[in-house]
Amino acid sequence: MTMRISRRAFNGGLVGLAAAGSTAFGVEPACADVPTLEANTGFAQLAPPELPATPIWGYEGQVPGPLIRVRRGERVRRRFVNRLPQASTVHWHGIRIDNAMDGVPDLTQAAVPPGGTFLYDFVAPDAGTYWYHSHNRTWEQLARGLYGALIVEEADGGPEVDRDELMLIDDWRLTQEARIDPSFGAMGDRSHGGRIGNWVTINGAGEWRVEVGRHERLRLRLANAANARILVLGLHGLEGWVVALDGQPLAAPEPLERLLLAPAQRADLIVDATAEEGSDAFLVSLERDGAFTIATFRVNGSIRPRRLAAPTPLAPNPLAPLRGLADARRARLLMQGGAMGGMQSAVMGGRETDIRDMVALGKVWAFNGVADFAAHPLLDLAIDEVARIAIVNQTAWPHAMHLHGHHFRRVGEDGTLGPLRDTLLLDRQEAAEIAFVADNPGDWLLHCHMPEHSAGGMETWIRVG
Ligand code: C2O
Ligand code: CU
Repeated sequence: MTMRISRRAFNGGLVGLAAAGSTAFGVEPACADVPTLEANTGFAQLAPPELPATPIWGYEGQVPGPLIRVRRGERVRRRFVNRLPQASTVHWHGIRIDNAMDGVPDLTQAAVPPGGTFLYDFVAPDAGTYWYHSHNRTWEQLARGLYGALIVEEADGGPEVDRDELMLIDDWRLTQEARIDPSFGAMGDRSHGGRIGNWVTINGAGEWRVEVGRHERLRLRLANAANARILVLGLHGLEGWVVALDGQPLAAPEPLERLLLAPAQRADLIVDATAEEGSDAFLVSLERDGAFTIATFRVNGSIRPRRLAAPTPLAPNPLAPLRGLADARRARLLMQGGAMGGMQSAVMGGRETDIRDMVALGKVWAFNGVADFAAHPLLDLAIDEVARIAIVNQTAWPHAMHLHGHHFRRVGEDGTLGPLRDTLLLDRQEAAEIAFVADNPGDWLLHCHMPEHSAGGMETWIRVG
């Protein structure tokens, strides 16, 4: 079988470069011993080189932001400095973090105004691949480039690989001049599948490529930083296993066929380059109209005569075991609304509101019939209580549901437990039950990670302790 692999078409023309002036704000000098993490404007060459660099917002003015790499159990300290014209916060996605450091405006901290600062200081309790991103006006700030990776290394040094590659995948909506399309949070995206772009990058590069040797073993740390694109990924000339999802090791490495990676999800792969010397291997995005190359691995020479043996599982992180499911506290979460959802009304500001009036206020979705941020938590849990949430997606769209501060497992119909995750993809009309140990005190968001959807009403929270 031969597969036609092509580059995603980019319908940009050569247009004169119009440099946008960067904005400067007066900011206090930072505290000497804590490294800063500055949200700022910048430029990135996202599009092919014949097109101009794209004005972005990024941490340190870059896309992606600086890679933060620590060992498990180490402390992460960053003085966040906001040099943007909007208030912002940093959320450390998937980290079982101290609630005060979770970066959720109005729930765990006040949004940091332009010119303001905030000290993020926390311990990374679990090894794995994580990421950080803006959590204010996320539909705009994430789409402009405010994200980066946080890698927490295994205490034992991790699996044996020749090379460790971070691959932060993003999906941009660019104009013909390679500018970020300013249609942030557009109602059409809110009510449909979210902001889907037209240009995919890895680590901010439109053409990501590396050289490898035949039978070289790589750890690929994939993360989906897109607002809304659900990636279906395949490999050609690379063979291997999934060893961790959303940072948490799988009990056993799973042979990789195709990988579903929803917004905010991560996957750690261990793969061997099996393509012939002198040929290319690919990571491809499988889409309705074909397979598109998103990364190229040039196989140059050979590292060893044959593949290494299958990897052993990564050491598990110190999470409390999930037991006592029969006596768990239970909640139900109905996901409603959106285009073709048939929703007539939902509660806003304490009263039933007609869908037309909701739309005027930017709301098109509801959780359990409520479209604005609920005054009461979905669950009020005692510390260490076990919780089960039955989620029913009654909409005509897939959603990537993210719980802050905890990892959960999916409970199968037969009671079997799925892998630990922090973000779960629910297909249209799909139901899934998740269970977790509520061992991290605080108020935690539970929302769709397509920010157009959460802004449009898909947001609730739980209280622990
Ligand atoms: Cu990655 Cu509430 O977000
Ligand atoms: Cu959604």
